[in-house]
Amino acid sequence: MEGRKPRQSRGGVWYTFTRPFYPLIAEASRKGPPMNLKTSAVLMALTLCSLAAVGARAQSAQLGPAVVTIHADQPVAKVSPTLYGLMTEEINHSYEGGLYAEMVQNSTFHSDWSGVPDWILVEKGNSQAKVGVDKSTGPSQALPYSLRLDVSQASKGNPAGVLNDGFWGMALQADTTYRGSFYAKEDAADAGPVEVSLVGNQSGKVLASAQVSGVGTDWKQYKFTLKTGAIQPSMQNHLAFTVAHTGTLWLQVVTLFPPTYHNRPNGTRIDLMEKLAAMHPAFLRFPGGNFLEGDHIADWYDWKKTIGPLVDRPGHPSPWRYWSTDGFGLLEFLEWCEDLHMQPVLAVYAGYSLMHEHVNPGPDLEPYVQSALDEIEYVTGGTDTKWGAQRAADGHPQPFHLTYVEIGNEDWFDTSGSYDARYEQFCKAIKAKYPDLQLIATTPVSSVRPDVIDEHFYVRATQFFHDAHHYDATNRSGPKIFVGEWATREGTPTPNFGAALGDAAWMTGLERNSDIVVMASYAPLLVNVSPGAMQWDTDLIGYDAMRSYGSPSYYAQVMFAGNLGNERPAAEVQGGGPRFFYSVTEDTARKRLYLKLVNGDSTPQAVEIDLPGATPASTGKLTLLSAPGTQAANTMDNPTAIVPVESKLRNVGSTLHYNAPPYSIQVLQIDLR
Ligand code: AHR
Repeated sequence: MEGRKPRQSRGGVWYTFTRPFYPLIAEASRKGPPMNLKTSAVLMALTLCSLAAVGARAQSAQLGPAVVTIHADQPVAKVSPTLYGLMTEEINHSYEGGLYAEMVQNSTFHSDWSGVPDWILVEKGNSQAKVGVDKSTGPSQALPYSLRLDVSQASKGNPAGVLNDGFWGMALQADTTYRGSFYAKEDAADAGPVEVSLVGNQSGKVLASAQVSGVGTDWKQYKFTLKTGAIQPSMQNHLAFTVAHTGTLWLQVVTLFPPTYHNRPNGTRIDLMEKLAAMHPAFLRFPGGNFLEGDHIADWYDWKKTIGPLVDRPGHPSPWRYWSTDGFGLLEFLEWCEDLHMQPVLAVYAGYSLMHEHVNPGPDLEPYVQSALDEIEYVTGGTDTKWGAQRAADGHPQPFHLTYVEIGNEDWFDTSGSYDARYEQFCKAIKAKYPDLQLIATTPVSSVRPDVIDEHFYVRATQFFHDAHHYDATNRSGPKIFVGEWATREGTPTPNFGAALGDAAWMTGLERNSDIVVMASYAPLLVNVSPGAMQWDTDLIGYDAMRSYGSPSYYAQVMFAGNLGNERPAAEVQGGGPRFFYSVTEDTARKRLYLKLVNGDSTPQAVEIDLPGATPASTGKLTLLSAPGTQAANTMDNPTAIVPVESKLRNVGSTLHYNAPPYSIQVLQIDLR
């Protein structure tokens, strides 16, 4: 191609820009301030230069050059240090069958019309047994029921029992210790051991096993460890509980964990936590989303039922059509924050549920307001407070730092109009006790002025291209903005490259306006891609029981959040195609500029970067994410088809010529002297 010399192959593209630039054709179609004389002259010179070199060759498909001028010595706004964070809820098996490392599906034997999902009767040889739910006995008030196994015939070599095949598989690695526990009782004490084993689905081979002896006639917790040997890593495995004696065995709260992130008991999956850590998230918005609200008022996220020992957590239905054991509860969310150095953005239930049910403001709402106050105390209170002491009893004496509390979720759906008064009631009570907390409203209200408003965007890439300037004209004297859920919804189960381009264009607008947009979080974050596990198309990170991968949109976020300054210098663009976007921030302590360029077009975009008055180091760093087309994607079997590639940026001076490849997202890191 005339005018540029690829220095590396695609994927690691590094173009040395040798003129000519592409002719100026797209200026008229670009919105923006009129060109100044200097810029016009530059563009004209570039155009003539280009024309001279390419002669009469048709250039109609190529974009006009863009000139980005950065006044590094003129800061115009602060960049929010909390701009990029995570939003999460129990959807697509985000926790159960996802981040929460529990390997047993339906660990508390929740039953439905089909029986006890995920549990299968085992009858080996001539053994005979029956299995079902026993609603008359359980180990706790929260779980007053259990799985009952009646064994009428069994012997050594002919055991009977139950098996669980996990969340669409159970991933086992070689030479690894798996720790588990269960509550149990039998109709006769010491009738014989319970054998716990991990078994390969295809081979039928026992890959690890343990015996638990001495099960008595009262409910008690038993622990076991299972250690694999030199096995082939696979997720085609299941967990079996068998006995070689007759009688009745009751089971409840069956758990099995692999090694977890930071070795936390009841902890999280290492591969997923590492992927999230790479996103440099400043905050975590939890526990939803619709998961906060429930379909009905009775299904609200009652956080008090999600803390303490697992046996004291009753679980509840997720509006995303599956049961949540709440094994991953409030304290686990907070520890997740701690592990990734994120601040919690705590959403409290505000009296609206999805089937258009609301709690009337006033006395009816008071218990929910009190619950929110208690929840804030659980998160932030000293051990001398009631709920702070409870948190300490649950294993975390140190309080968590909290700045933001969100009142409800998407209350614009409440057509009764009750949100204004509901918000006011929460706001007055919370501010009276915690005046420093910043409160987030989920839709505008007039009763009181919220500190922050949460806005959500689920759109196509073209909409984000058109709306990348959404906040440019937002009134700076109003509440701050939290873009609490946003995504380009193209591609399933995870976004394709076209979506990543839409996302990146949108993020340039968020960065440019991060004086007012204080936080933003993509949603949904996680999806188990196994058949039947997903409820929402287009989710940032995909996984099954064993593997995980980041979508191109994930990598766009890694690049944007990992290269963010603390100030926005004055900058402007002239020229460029209609799908060309940029943002520039400066890390003032390091004297480092991060210039993000997005070329959403199928043709290259020539860019001249002018740094008047600045003396940059002659080399910088380029991080490039690009793909041959908008439908290109990463998948479980091809997880790194599209990943960022770093290379050296050479010939950096007060003017730098760069050619953004077709369909590309890039960060240019430029150090100033
Ligand atoms: O992110 C999926 C859902 O979209 C969230 O639960 C809800 O808040 C929004 O409507």
